[in-house]
Amino acid sequence: MLPQEILRKKRDGQCLSTSEIQEFIHGVVDGSIVDAQTSALTMAIFLNGLTPKETSDLTIAMRDSGDVLRWDDIDGPIVDKHSSGGVGDKISLMLAPMLAACGAYCPMISGRGLGHTGGTLDKFDSIPGYQTSPSNELFRNTVKTVGCAIIGQTANLAPADKKIYALRDVCGTVESIDLITASILSKKLAAGLQYLVMDLKCGNGAFMDSLENAEKLASSIVAVANASNTKTTAVITDMNQVLGHNVGNALEVAEALDFLKGNHVDSRTYEITLELCSELLVASSLSADKDAAKNRLKQVLENGQALEKFAAMVASLGGPGDFCDDPWRYLPRAAIIRPVFASTPGYVCGMNTRAIGLSLIDLNGGRTTPDQKLDYATGYSEFCQIGDYVDSSVPLAVIHAQTEDQYQAAAEQLRRNITIQATKPALTSCIIKKIS
Ligand code: URA
Repeated sequence: MLPQEILRKKRDGQCLSTSEIQEFIHGVVDGSIVDAQTSALTMAIFLNGLTPKETSDLTIAMRDSGDVLRWDDIDGPIVDKHSSGGVGDKISLMLAPMLAACGAYCPMISGRGLGHTGGTLDKFDSIPGYQTSPSNELFRNTVKTVGCAIIGQTANLAPADKKIYALRDVCGTVESIDLITASILSKKLAAGLQYLVMDLKCGNGAFMDSLENAEKLASSIVAVANASNTKTTAVITDMNQVLGHNVGNALEVAEALDFLKGNHVDSRTYEITLELCSELLVASSLSADKDAAKNRLKQVLENGQALEKFAAMVASLGGPGDFCDDPWRYLPRAAIIRPVFASTPGYVCGMNTRAIGLSLIDLNGGRTTPDQKLDYATGYSEFCQIGDYVDSSVPLAVIHAQTEDQYQAAAEQLRRNITIQATKPALTSCIIKKIS
């Protein structure tokens, strides 16, 4: 069928057949369908939606637009987690080595920061020598020998998504549940996963700010992934505040290592990490139930096996062999490291998490253009949490900046975007809901 006829059908709210969707996606990749037509289809889908069958067909067509990895030579479950994105979210850095230490294999293909949210790849790029774009051979070998490898999307993994995502970004069609489902899952299914857990962030620092939309996206992803033979569950978690102590690329790597060493562990980060890991251990039958899974995870944290897996992954992918012994020997440090205090003492009762994420961009820790070079050293440490009491001796955070002007601008952003009150607020759970 002519592309314009496919567009007219979707424009008029009709269903597309499997072959029409396949034809269109072929055309996107081979260039016979022009960008204007692809953009038009995304807008028609944004406005009229897709049926579950169409979403599934689109996901599979996008998955099959490039390489689909197979792990037949590995004798163990192939697992992964995907987060919909947040501020201070460094869970992947601990989750992959923890799962590897429990006997799972985690080939994690991650992305760079998007908008106000940080990206796992940018964090790993702060480790000197670590290859986020290794050869296929090195990637496979690291997964096989270590049990986990965290790298970036390779050129031929779901190339249709690369093209469509770039167009959605500039034509106002990012926030479509059907398109997000196909985009995320095309990449995850192409990585050859057997088990997946989605961490769906919900709140003022997430892309989904309402529980209703987070639930719709979770249900859509779970339905399509399970129908495609990747056993998937989703956990909706809170993103109404910065996650953990540190925000910023090198600073988040340092916090992840502290976590794996059992030093200064943030309780919400701990709870969410154990919840997501245990979903995968139970789904893949490595643990009999949630309690057994959590006990096993505590064990690999306490006996240092998870830390050893992180160290082995870094070394295998080109980073320093002794990175975990003294990470600050290798990670970049900012010129100014100084606390910022609240204007009045009191309890932290809320924060504009999105604005705080955007303030990292002003510190050059996040991007405004796709090819921008980042400053991996900047960001925040000792970030306050809702319910904390802050005053002239307990700071809102410690700012890591390169210049005095940067420091002053970041201090102003934190004072403006963190709300303080006289009474202690009620605390809410960081795990909101599970969808399976
Ligand atoms: N992340 C993706 O990979 N795709 C989307 O559409 C949104 C977030």
